[in-house]
Amino acid sequence: MMSFLKCTRSALGIWQIQSSWIKKRVWLETTAVLPHACSVCSSVRWKSTAANQEKEANYQFCNARWRQMVLGVITGTGAILAYGLYRKQEAEPKPETSVDSEAQQSYPVYTRQDVAKHKTMESGIWVTYKSDVYDITNFVELHPGGDKILLAAGGALEPFWSMYAVHKQEHVYQILEEYKVGELSPEAAQEACDVTDPYGKDPLRHPVLKVNSLKPFNAETPAEILTENYLTPNDLFFIRNHLPVPEVDPKKFSLEIKGEGLKSIQLSLRDLQTKFPKHTITATLQCAGNRRSDMNAVREVKGLNWGSAAIGNAKWTGVKLSDVLEYARLPANTDAKHVQFEGLDKDISGTPYGASIPIRKALAKDGDVLLAFEMNDEILSRDHGFPLRLVVPGVVGARNVKWLSKIIVSKEESKSHWQVNDYKGFSPSVDWNTVDFTTAPAIQELSIQSAITSPSKDERLSSDLDEITVKGYAWSGGGREVIRVDVSMDGGQTWHVADLSEMKQNEGQAWAWKLWELTVPMPKDEKSLEIISKAVDNQYNVQPDTVAPIWNLRGVLNNSWSRVNVTIK
Ligand code: MTE
Repeated sequence: MMSFLKCTRSALGIWQIQSSWIKKRVWLETTAVLPHACSVCSSVRWKSTAANQEKEANYQFCNARWRQMVLGVITGTGAILAYGLYRKQEAEPKPETSVDSEAQQSYPVYTRQDVAKHKTMESGIWVTYKSDVYDITNFVELHPGGDKILLAAGGALEPFWSMYAVHKQEHVYQILEEYKVGELSPEAAQEACDVTDPYGKDPLRHPVLKVNSLKPFNAETPAEILTENYLTPNDLFFIRNHLPVPEVDPKKFSLEIKGEGLKSIQLSLRDLQTKFPKHTITATLQCAGNRRSDMNAVREVKGLNWGSAAIGNAKWTGVKLSDVLEYARLPANTDAKHVQFEGLDKDISGTPYGASIPIRKALAKDGDVLLAFEMNDEILSRDHGFPLRLVVPGVVGARNVKWLSKIIVSKEESKSHWQVNDYKGFSPSVDWNTVDFTTAPAIQELSIQSAITSPSKDERLSSDLDEITVKGYAWSGGGREVIRVDVSMDGGQTWHVADLSEMKQNEGQAWAWKLWELTVPMPKDEKSLEIISKAVDNQYNVQPDTVAPIWNLRGVLNNSWSRVNVTIK
């Protein structure tokens, strides 16, 4: 709250906002503040609303933080709606409806599928709250920041508002009422799932996730909110599934451990939780396909079109794989080379998802490979592997097997499709006619990576702003610590060093990402900016500057400089 209040005249200046677009945006961003500032949110909001009534009013705002508030905007539909009401009242004569006449009004009944069809301006933007349906198209049109509401389009508002209790207020509900167009059918609230669909029993997901494919479910965190949290909230964490999510009864769950020189054993969840010391690490999980869309832009690749948020950072709690293998009496001088893993998710032929890691990583005392049952202090969710998943810090997401059911110590690596025929890198010259997957090793440790999360691609910034803040994440595989992030505002001609989040990490165990931020004066007389980030790790690995030389037919391992073009208005 203090830091928010400090964002006043002395620190940030009072801005005479010329354009009415900016005025509205500023209002929004001043109102839709981050959770820690939410207690001041409403007072600031109403103050600003009053100010809004005077056409050429001055607007105070926190320039340095305005980008941080995007999350508030996204989840701040209530604040946006409050603004919308003000505009509506200004634009239209007061409707002659009384509470009584509204009570008598009967509305058409819709299913959730009906609502889901209304996600665009063409079809209309519909949202639901409790059992009511609202058409907020006019509101979005009226409102220049309204496009952020599109994240909730076609679905329920509750998950957005649950993040920000400030919106659960009577005046917000009244505002919403103005846009009511229908009601949900009673069944719609508790829809029966289609059991014949293999994906029919998949869990419900947070609607803010940017969906890449529904069946199997693959979705990423919207980039603009990814770096709002050092630990990515569980329900916003990207989801990468190849198959339907299995339903697991934790009481019946058992983990089988077998292989070279081992006595085969079965461990229940309780065994795992009681027989071994608990261990917690903070580690970043990144899909090999993260930032594939940039590769796709160079030349088409095969794979889900991930943006820059197929990555997340979480606190994982479980037991060490090395302790469990020791318990299973794996001989110290084993000649096994790999540890294979199988999940409970199976394809149509009954083949499970599988992967393997080198035994060296599995047994390394500082390798921190976990059989995890908690994520960010909560029991794993179904999408993230309930009740047990492998966490191999510093290693590509694909080896972090979810719904873990089997561990096999062996001389060979896993024969799983995802180990031998996928998740491998090739020369840009290799195409689908010439590719030979046996010639390339399976990806394990990932390379140095960084990406800009704010501003977002093609964003339009006001030349009235004094400063611009650039934000993003940086991470390197194999426990290598990120030591620096360089940011350029002019397409790579000159560079600034960004501030890194101070997170103490042990030598060789830098499993977690670093968030970074840079605030610089707004370049004057520029019509556009090409903002770039490039990170360096403690072995001086640095990101390559362009995508073309690292392009590969599967679109994996894109760690080229992150580039964002913005327009200055
Ligand atoms: N484990 C199983 N059993 N099935 C899967 O489809 N996907 C893998 C890995 N583990 C997968 C799996 C891939 S490719 C990634 S990137 C990570 O899980 C994603 O983990 P998340 O969905 O928890 O973010």
